[in-house]
Amino acid sequence: MKAVTWHGRRDVRVEEVPDPVLKESNDAIVRITSSGLCGSDLHLYETLGPFMGEGDVLGHEPMGIVEEVGSEVGDLKIGDRVVVPFQICCGHCWMCAQGLHTQCETTQVRDQGMGAALFGFSKLYGEVPGAQAEYLRVPQAQFMPIKVPEGPPDDRFLFLSDVLPTAWQSFVYADVPKDGTLLVLGLGPIGEMACRIARHQGYRVLAVDRVPERLARAAGRGVEVLDMREVDDVGEEVRSRTQGRGADAVIDAVGMEAHGSPVAELGQRIFNALPKRLTAPIMNKAGLDRMAAIYTAIDAVRRGGTVSLIGVYGGQSDPLPMLTMFDKQLQLRMGQANVKRWVDDIMPLLTDDADPLGTEDFATHRVPLAEAPTAYDNFQKKQDGTIKVVFQP
Ligand SMILES: NC(=O)c1ccc[n+]([C@@H]2O[C@H](COP(=O)([O-])OP(=O)(O)OC[C@H]3O[C@@H](n4cnc5c(N)ncnc54)[C@H](O)[C@@H]3O)[C@@H](O)[C@H]2O)c1
Ligand SMILES: [Zn+2]
Ligand SMILES: [Zn+2]
Repeated sequence: MKAVTWHGRRDVRVEEVPDPVLKESNDAIVRITSSGLCGSDLHLYETLGPFMGEGDVLGHEPMGIVEEVGSEVGDLKIGDRVVVPFQICCGHCWMCAQGLHTQCETTQVRDQGMGAALFGFSKLYGEVPGAQAEYLRVPQAQFMPIKVPEGPPDDRFLFLSDVLPTAWQSFVYADVPKDGTLLVLGLGPIGEMACRIARHQGYRVLAVDRVPERLARAAGRGVEVLDMREVDDVGEEVRSRTQGRGADAVIDAVGMEAHGSPVAELGQRIFNALPKRLTAPIMNKAGLDRMAAIYTAIDAVRRGGTVSLIGVYGGQSDPLPMLTMFDKQLQLRMGQANVKRWVDDIMPLLTDDADPLGTEDFATHRVPLAEAPTAYDNFQKKQDGTIKVVFQP
């Protein structure tokens, strides 16, 4: 089959790889009809490269049709239309029972000290072949696949694999009080969807980015947007719009590739130029994240407010302004999204004919796998109006 594979920093290729086969009795094989490209893939494309293996299949936002099933997959049937969560989880361990599927004790990658395995996400997360491919082996298929109705286009449901539950969790974790103001940092797919969810629930939302078409899309849905190329002190600007206090809650939907951290950016560049065998141990010990967005979040949140980190950070010892965080009495919440935890809450919005979250207009590009190298490049550089790419194998 054809698949998008990793070959080095900013080097993805579309290659023939062996078709996946059933390995366990609770596996299924899904023929992929749509597969998203995510901001998390950009970390693998750039900063997290040291943890990738040459030829690893990328991608973790799959949707498709069940083609084959093992003998222990419950009521999953060949021909079912399914979305598959980005994390691999069993549904019956203690963590899954708490709704903490990203900590699943059946799939935790213990030799790396990490939580649940993820599709297409480096050695840190189990090096499981990913979903930007024609077919995907789905482990834990007695629990993983989310069955969706026939009829509506894929995009109605595809974003249940990652974007929707991630944005939803970031919003729930932000715990915006009634009549409160939410500030969202970053208007990539995750930040923008978090804005849509908060607006749909009637909240006032401010948001920051530097990419004109991303700002415009959010503004079109009633978000008060701040262009970071023009506003040099986001905290001040937010306070000036919130009676001097700051936002009740802030979602950081930027993560480790943030703009505005010149020192860490230089560090990341030097780091990226080093041979891989040297950089993986450094990454485990050092702080290589660009912390600009977190610092902005800590500054712009009001005293006693909540910061919800949904952007991915990867270094082990980034310095944080602990003095300010403690003094401001911040509530800090974070983590990978527990996809299954939120599906039942989100589904009614997807089966609503009015499509209140605008899923059908969310993707800006639908392309074949063959265009993956260009799509990655455009998404990273934010060229060609690229906000959300969906591969259609
Ligand atoms: N926790 C999870 O489960 C989960 C799931 C999916 C994605 N993510 C993470 O969420 C983050 C966003 O993903 P995405 O797909 O939206 O990616 P993206 O890269 O398209 O979006 C990031 C946005 O942040 C903006 N930005 C950069 N620096 C900024 C700054 N200092 N202040 C404000 N905005 C800034 C960029 O211009 C860009 O629009 C990534 O870190 C990704 O890894 C987390
Ligand atoms: Zn993702
Ligand atoms: Zn589990």
